[in-house]
Amino acid sequence: MKISRKIRLSYSAFLILSLTLLAAARSKAQTAEVFRLDGGNSTYALGVNEHGELQPLYWGGRLGPHDTVPAARSFPEKASFDSPYTTTPEEYAGWGAGLFTEPALKITFADGNRDLVLHFVRATQNSPEAVGLLLKDISREIYVTLRYSIDPDTGILARSADIENREKQPVVIEQAAAAQWTLPPARYTLSYLTGRWAGEWTLNQEPILGGARVIESRRGTTGHQANPWFAISRDSGSLATGPFAAGEENGEVWFGALAWSGSWRITVEHTQLDTVRVTGGFNPFDFGYKLKPGEHLETPVFYGGYSDHGLGGASRLLHHFEIAHILPEAPDPKPRPVIYNSWEATEFRVDEAGQMALAEKAASIGVDRFVMDDGWFGQRKDDHAGLGDWYVNQEKFPHGLKPLIDKVHSLGMDFGLWVEPEMVNPNSDLYRKHPDWVLNFPGRPRSESRNQLVLNLARPDVRDYVEGFLDKLLTENDIAFLKWDYNRNWSEPGWDQVPVEEQKRVYVEFIRNLYSILADLRKKHPRIEIESCSGGGGRVDLGILRYTDEVWTSDNTDPFDRLSMQDGFTYAYTPQIMMAWVTDSPHWLNNKRVTSLAYRMLSAMQGSLGIGANLNQWTAEDFAAAKRLIAAYHSVQRTIVRGDLYRLISPREGSEFSATETVAADKNQAVVFAFANATQEGRGFPLLQLHGLDPNAEYKLSWIAGQASPGTPDTASGAWWMHHGLELDLRGDFQPAAFRLDRSR
Ligand code: DGJ
Repeated sequence: MKISRKIRLSYSAFLILSLTLLAAARSKAQTAEVFRLDGGNSTYALGVNEHGELQPLYWGGRLGPHDTVPAARSFPEKASFDSPYTTTPEEYAGWGAGLFTEPALKITFADGNRDLVLHFVRATQNSPEAVGLLLKDISREIYVTLRYSIDPDTGILARSADIENREKQPVVIEQAAAAQWTLPPARYTLSYLTGRWAGEWTLNQEPILGGARVIESRRGTTGHQANPWFAISRDSGSLATGPFAAGEENGEVWFGALAWSGSWRITVEHTQLDTVRVTGGFNPFDFGYKLKPGEHLETPVFYGGYSDHGLGGASRLLHHFEIAHILPEAPDPKPRPVIYNSWEATEFRVDEAGQMALAEKAASIGVDRFVMDDGWFGQRKDDHAGLGDWYVNQEKFPHGLKPLIDKVHSLGMDFGLWVEPEMVNPNSDLYRKHPDWVLNFPGRPRSESRNQLVLNLARPDVRDYVEGFLDKLLTENDIAFLKWDYNRNWSEPGWDQVPVEEQKRVYVEFIRNLYSILADLRKKHPRIEIESCSGGGGRVDLGILRYTDEVWTSDNTDPFDRLSMQDGFTYAYTPQIMMAWVTDSPHWLNNKRVTSLAYRMLSAMQGSLGIGANLNQWTAEDFAAAKRLIAAYHSVQRTIVRGDLYRLISPREGSEFSATETVAADKNQAVVFAFANATQEGRGFPLLQLHGLDPNAEYKLSWIAGQASPGTPDTASGAWWMHHGLELDLRGDFQPAAFRLDRSR
């Protein structure tokens, strides 16, 4: 058929018109498209603007069920220096089109193109509790699925991204965030945790000013130096009075925690629009993940939540969430057994007779689990040799581990064992046989730390070796618990068995293999419990906590230092997982600081209790005191580790006093710990006004250690304990007290 030119013209006009109408209809539909998640006390909403850009619309206190949020819209260029792509808030920004703020995703394509602009395609899931949104680059076949789910109880969101390459060529992902969080324009204070070996869990607080604050690890692991957690409190006050950050128990707080045990980065950015954006995920430093056609890269999960009860409310939400959704035994992990561990008493000098003698003493004070630490395997006499050779040292244990394990069982305890599976000493049979198994760049030096190298767990053969020896160890021995240690960070992270352009995948594959070994072991040995230890608290994050039941908080067991460390720890993590040992006094770390056994016990009883002292040197009084306090701990442990934690008085910044309170979920019991650390000028303990009790119930007071000031009632209403409060006669150096309140009516 011949179509005249006129008709052809009007046909094209018709086509253009219908396409325009279609586009208009589509953009109208998109503009109206709002995705909303409600849970606990919070609401999260996002939507698509007229250009197809996905935008954050709201994150904060829970909105009414019929409330709407203003639709997404694009922001015009304000000046030639502010491109609309920078001024328009993006939910997950690709690096391209003049983006000057932190990108979520940055890609180099095979042809050299590095421009990436993600637009909304469609929802892949849209329910009240979970949303999946598919984005795609405006011209290339790069697809990103953003996943959201919200916990109906705490309102904590889980966000992650799945990046898929449907191009015909591979691409290199240079930066991939799990999520970007956007807060409304306001003044804020940032809280974050930093530290070092034997000095983890320092809470830092600072105003969020222009520019960006980066919290990160480039170490191949979570790290002692910073922890992947943040909290952002909204300041009140005015320019005249100065800003007041939200407090411990009041004000709005947005918080988040990244579930990743490899190199990570969280960037907190105060944008030119005065919003605050938090971007977190794989650390882009030295990152370069080659994604072949058809492959996906799944980011870690970035959890985020909102509280209008200050930092205390934020941490209580996180604690409940970790217990209910993260830990391997969620939603009801059992309180941790009270352990004994001889590391500080014997170090590497473990042998059958010595461990049996300690086990007898540990059992006599009510310990539930006996753990043998480093030194039982290979040629391990000190830290120069043996790592990698996971056979029992015949000189120390001539009949294998069985006699010791049987003895421990006969004493009514279960048995735990220390391992450091990802490491090798060059002085070991394993290294002599497989020198190529370690992270290294061939022909370059291999930097040792603590005389050890890191096995490249990204390699399938290394992964299988590690899982294999652990499986064998657990199959052949009745082991209830592994203390899984990791005593150095990465250096020279080369992986020369794969093509050059794939070698940087080590940052992802290593951690995935670690997780998969842990998952497999738990599947094959369902009763096994595992502690994540990395020279103390160097590997604590919501990623490893999916596979491990507890963590070693720090190698620093000084009971006074521990008060601040435990305080910092609980901003992000539940006391359920916070292992705290009672060790010897004078303590080795702070020029032999001397503290009483009661002070050491009460400091450790704020978390999951362990004993790490040299029991061979204890007196009869020590045994009697420890036995009484372990029994007292057992009777209130569930409240301490599972209840609502209130940090009543912070031990930070040289405070003379500190106090914590935990209240059971049913409000039937509260447990309070109080410490006078180095009082001055005879100052008395601040009035202790409790929190979280039922004001109308009656509570009976009983002392675990210490005594009441004259006039304190034995029994009073919740209102009395919360409003009138109680006086403690606690003064001097390192003085402890603890009491419980039990509902009597
Ligand atoms: C570091 C751990 O944190 C310690 O508790 C102890 O297990 C040593 N490693 C053993 O080498």
